[in-house]
Amino acid sequence: MPVDNPYLDDEEDKKAAMDMDAIVKTLFAPIYPVIAEQIKSMHGIVTGNCIDLGAGPGALSIGLARITDLHLYAVDKSSHSFDIATKNIKDVGLEDRITPVKSDIAAMPFEDDFADLMISRGSIFFWQDLAGAFNEIYRVLKPGGETHIGGGFGTPELKKFIFAEMAKKNDGFEDRSKKRGGPKAMKRIKDALDETLGGKYRMTQSDTGFWIFITKEKAL
Ligand SMILES: C[S@@+](CC[C@H](N)C(=O)[O-])C[C@H]1O[C@@H](n2cnc3c(N)ncnc32)[C@H](O)[C@@H]1O
Repeated sequence: MPVDNPYLDDEEDKKAAMDMDAIVKTLFAPIYPVIAEQIKSMHGIVTGNCIDLGAGPGALSIGLARITDLHLYAVDKSSHSFDIATKNIKDVGLEDRITPVKSDIAAMPFEDDFADLMISRGSIFFWQDLAGAFNEIYRVLKPGGETHIGGGFGTPELKKFIFAEMAKKNDGFEDRSKKRGGPKAMKRIKDALDETLGGKYRMTQSDTGFWIFITKEKAL
């Protein structure tokens, strides 16, 4: 069970969803266009269906919708995050390009082989049923499709700036981040990946974050 998960209790989840929305619109705002550009240039997938796993307020979905022709599905299990994302997507006029979906990642309402691309930032640390989530991601991923799942802040400079600003708030952000991305948490993720997907994934780690690239072979 992951430590420090505010998304399990409805009241805590409501506060976490509102706090996330506030920070996504201020301090974290510059990271989403940067990560969206990195996803676009790395995968080159600009049409078809893209699922944003644990989308929260929807900023990464919005960033990627703006620079591609993808149809985005912003999936989040929290009804509070779902409501916030729905409003944010409407506010920027992207309702026809991004569909908010209220669902747990471990049981998504998509048919097999649906998604050309699956993205996720900052959510995996909170997934209770990691093996269930990876099995479900693999089921929904199109053969030949790709994933960009993990966590990060775009560039080392942005990360440094955000951590410095968060330190001023003195609310334990750095400790929580270190714990969430620490060796124990990473082992839990890697064990679940090995158990469910064996060699069908690759993981990278750098000072901009860590990302999991899952591949599903096309049938011969
Ligand atoms: C820290 S927020 C990140 C939001 C967004 N990806 C971002 O970077 O701005 C984590 C989100 O993951 C969602 N989440 C956690 N576990 C989930 C699960 N099993 N299924 C769907 N969403 C989940 C939470 O509800 C929350 O909105």
